[in-house]
Amino acid sequence: MSPGNNEKPAICALLGSPRRQGNTALLLSRAVAGAREAGCTVTTVIVPSLEFSPCREIYFCRDNDRCKLQDGITGLYPLFASLDSLIIATPVMTMGVPGALKSFMDRFQVFYCAKYLRNSPLVAPEKRKYRNTLFISIAGMNLPDNFDGVRQSALAFCDIIDCPLTDEILVRDMDGKKDLNRFPEILDEAYRKGRMLGEHVVAAVKK
Ligand SMILES: Cc1cc2nc3c(=O)[nH]c(=O)nc-3n(C[C@H](O)[C@H](O)[C@H](O)COP(=O)(O)O)c2cc1C
Repeated sequence: MSPGNNEKPAICALLGSPRRQGNTALLLSRAVAGAREAGCTVTTVIVPSLEFSPCREIYFCRDNDRCKLQDGITGLYPLFASLDSLIIATPVMTMGVPGALKSFMDRFQVFYCAKYLRNSPLVAPEKRKYRNTLFISIAGMNLPDNFDGVRQSALAFCDIIDCPLTDEILVRDMDGKKDLNRFPEILDEAYRKGRMLGEHVVAAVKK
């Protein structure tokens, strides 16, 4: 997925919510629209729809740049090595990342071992210079520490895959707000931040 002269940069959009028509999916769709408008191709991965096993701690990846498990994540490793930037959108569940998305993140121990144990990252050096992540999260409640858990996991995941978390949209009190369609300013912010992410990557790959 390395963009050639005419190829558009590639962004992956990860949805952590099982609700395809939910508020998280809606916010993500606005960010994706902005990134596309900036000139990127966007592949959306709906994590709760993937069939995969949580990490089994076999640690095959200590010595190999792949996972021993063969399932719905196997084909996504090349995508995550080659993507130009990432958008993660997730609800808060039990003050953290929902189980499916957390299990997905854990499976990227393949990238952790390559980077930190073998000093041989799976992401090419030129891509490591410009890859960024836009992090979007929604919480039902309105508590000061609503996003501490999801943010910590997202920061760790983004570091492991060499796609640092550089921007975020955090929406609290979703139980009170109910439907984000009633808050066009929040949807506009998602579009604008998706577009900014896309513009950054388009400019970076042109250099
Ligand atoms: C299993 C579950 C656990 C949840 N735990 C929390 C929580 O700990 N804190 C919070 O603020 N909201 C919590 N929520 C509320 C969701 O974050 C909120 O409803 C969010 O808008 C869901 O987004 P979605 O409908 O786009 O998937 C939880 C929801 C579910 C279904």
